Amino acid sequence: MTLPDNCVMVIFGASGDLTHRKLIPALYSLTADGALPKQFAVVGFARKPKTDESFRAELRESVSEHARVKPVDTAAWEAFASRVHYCQGDYGKPDDYARLEAMLKDIDAQHGTGGNRLFYVATPPEVYHAITEQLGLSGMARAENGRWVRIIIEKPFGHDLNSARELNTHVHRYFAEDQIFRIDHYLGKETVQNILVFRFANGIFEPIWNRRYVDSVQITVAEEIGIEGRGAYYESAGVIRDIVQNHLLQLLALTAMEPPAEFEADAVRNEKVKVLKAIRVDDSEGDGTVRGQYGPGKVAGQLVPGYLQEEGVALDSTTETWLAMKFLVDNWRWAGVPWYVRSGKRMPKRVTEIAIQFKMPPLMLFSKATAKAIEPNALVLNIQPDEGISLKFGSKAPGSGETIQPVKMDFTYSSAFDKAAPDAYERLLLDCILGDSTLFTRADEVEAQWEIINPIIDGWKAQGGAAIELYRAGKPGPKEGDDFIRKDKRDWRNLWS
Ligand code: BG6
Repeated sequence: MTLPDNCVMVIFGASGDLTHRKLIPALYSLTADGALPKQFAVVGFARKPKTDESFRAELRESVSEHARVKPVDTAAWEAFASRVHYCQGDYGKPDDYARLEAMLKDIDAQHGTGGNRLFYVATPPEVYHAITEQLGLSGMARAENGRWVRIIIEKPFGHDLNSARELNTHVHRYFAEDQIFRIDHYLGKETVQNILVFRFANGIFEPIWNRRYVDSVQITVAEEIGIEGRGAYYESAGVIRDIVQNHLLQLLALTAMEPPAEFEADAVRNEKVKVLKAIRVDDSEGDGTVRGQYGPGKVAGQLVPGYLQEEGVALDSTTETWLAMKFLVDNWRWAGVPWYVRSGKRMPKRVTEIAIQFKMPPLMLFSKATAKAIEPNALVLNIQPDEGISLKFGSKAPGSGETIQPVKMDFTYSSAFDKAAPDAYERLLLDCILGDSTLFTRADEVEAQWEIINPIIDGWKAQGGAAIELYRAGKPGPKEGDDFIRKDKRDWRNLWS
């Protein structure tokens, strides 16, 4: 294993939810596992006034609640916390960056962190420009004398194609592409990484992974939760920007891409970009999408408000919280195979999966009655929460008749491995400290994702909100979503009962 270099990580947006729920708990768990560099320190940067002590006390609570490694070990926490500092500042103010720089130098002297810097931009996107500019103008973005400087930028990366391009151009003024780590936390999930291992470390699946054998693919990203108090953000995002443009397209790209020449950051990302460029929405009928929005309903036995009743949401909002679409991948491997995708909030349960449905046998040998009961083979990659892979096939039911019944071969992570998977952020933070960008989105990749999504958003703008269908919270989306796939003589997989 390569040893990570000593470094200081600066978190912009240190008062925010992401810092408390994900970043600090991930860093603590990595520390407890002994995976972080020997000399490591964290500086939280945000507008609110705080002392090192008050910041540490807040983080202690977050770690108790959210860290993977539990219970929190007092000695390990104290050792970690003694290396956590706070810098109050304004994101656009040069003087505050001068103070930050002086503080980082002191920390290098105090903790032996060696001058390497990892900046994490975990703020709302409105200040991404100011932060990267100030890091550039202050000279802190420059890697000199064998020291490295890297920057992680959270999603959303851009609001549409133009703003993503403009943000890339802006950040490239101050940072080279190999310093920039655009994060999509789905790529840090074990099961998502396993898509490539499953496909390319095994010999038996790849030969059938194409249009000759695959009938269709369904990708579902269903969430039980609603918008979790993020009304203002969600109003400007909707599920298309929140999930489809990034997480869902990553799942699609990893499932559809060609094998890379080697398992190396640029080789993998070249293949993803290539396949993303071949993806388009099938708009041969309508615009190829169905949009839904949840009304009040019951989720996990609890009454929950509708989207329009959530704080920060306009009373007449037409933002979509559910979306179904049909993609096509225009290349030799996938030509003509439909990729049905759906994602929604306030679904009956949380489930993310990729289901590859295979064609039926060319000739049915069994009686008509039996044949009717035969279901197509399906290979399902269960991304979460019941991580695993299953293969459905028809089996003869015991007895003298010819009854054929669908059965499943199941692999589950929980029974195959006795080790809990690290949180996605743990993996990604460590990769960034190690300088490995395989699981981060490259500039051309994020633009290729927006190139797919942009025409859809433009089309919606032209249509207005008239096409939003209501569904009850706790139900699997609007009825129109079922009609959408039934037009192709297929059904959504029933993941709810
Ligand atoms: C985030 C979205 O990127 O992903 C959230 O902004 C969503 O709205 C979350 O809930 C889902 O992540 P996970 O890891 O819980 O599937």
